Amino acid sequence: MRDALLDIRGLSVHFHTPEGIGRAVESVSLSIGPGETLGLVGESGCGKSVTALAVIGLIPSPPGRIVAGEIRFQGRDLLRIKPDRLRRIRGREIGMIFQEPLTALNPVLTIGRQVAEPLMVHSGLSRDAALKKATRWLERVRIPSAAKRLGAYPHELSGGMRQRVMIAMAMICRPRLIIADEPTTALDVTLQRQILSLMARLQSEMGMAMLLITHDLGVVAQTAGRVAVMYAGRVAETAAVGPLFADPLHPYTQGLLQSMPRLGAGSGRLHEIPGSVPAATSSISGCPFAERCPFAFDRCRQEAPMLQTARPGRQVSCWLYVR
Ligand SMILES: Nc1ncnc2c1ncn2[C@@H]1O[C@H](COP(=O)(O)OP(=O)(O)O)[C@@H](O)[C@H]1O
Ligand SMILES: [Mg+2]
Repeated sequence: MRDALLDIRGLSVHFHTPEGIGRAVESVSLSIGPGETLGLVGESGCGKSVTALAVIGLIPSPPGRIVAGEIRFQGRDLLRIKPDRLRRIRGREIGMIFQEPLTALNPVLTIGRQVAEPLMVHSGLSRDAALKKATRWLERVRIPSAAKRLGAYPHELSGGMRQRVMIAMAMICRPRLIIADEPTTALDVTLQRQILSLMARLQSEMGMAMLLITHDLGVVAQTAGRVAVMYAGRVAETAAVGPLFADPLHPYTQGLLQSMPRLGAGSGRLHEIPGSVPAATSSISGCPFAERCPFAFDRCRQEAPMLQTARPGRQVSCWLYVR
């Protein structure tokens, strides 16, 4: 992509485990333009979180290691800059929202202190100025009686309120990119919808780009502009949301969509993809989906396909589309 904000190229992340080398992420390439929302979807264990952790420089090492690739953010390769520079980018230019705010929030610090902290660290605001701005942000994320909540501790808030606090913390320094890893997975459907539309509204007001990670295609349909589908550590397919849902190319994407409950679909049984995802430690020479793919032929079991442009704006990693 030209002038991408984030451009990940050929990223491979391996984990050294007692069972062998786990290829958590293998030759992943993704890009996000300014202001764009890219949905990253796939079943649990396919490498979504590891991809996000690589971007923010938080792969636990050991056992993890980035063995190949580039992660360009505004033109700079995050894998090749000094740690203190990366720390500054993280939080100030890249904001993060995680699934479980209780583990991301500090239990012994007040909400006010935690929301104000990034401003004091990254923007050099005084304590009072930062607290004032924190209050405004708590109002912005629709926390009732925001000023009174400054002195509350995380455990005194509901799950939905904690997630709003995380959003305020992630966005308060006006980053260019937000990485949201399963931001609404722990919430019920109504809250989920409220939080997603809050995030989308703030995002468009501030012109931020977002990498939205989820295992839920419904969340992607509601929020993202473009989607990347991951399977077993690789990108299977990328496309704009409309074309992806209307006409999925990769057999795995087709299976995922068939397993998604549709509105008004009545009591129809969901189609499940037969078989299971190969272990990250297994050595696969062909396409990782071949074992489960209804269309697999000899080449699929021998050679791994690369992500290639199949049609304008659409990339797929599948031998069915290579002439
Ligand atoms: N700290 C770790 N040690 C060993 N393996 C890990 C570690 N973190 C992640 N993995 C492996 O990396 C793969 C991808 O995990 P992850 O990115 O968390 O998946 P998800 O798509 O559910 O976010 C999995 O096989 C997982 O077991
Ligand atoms: Mg994850």
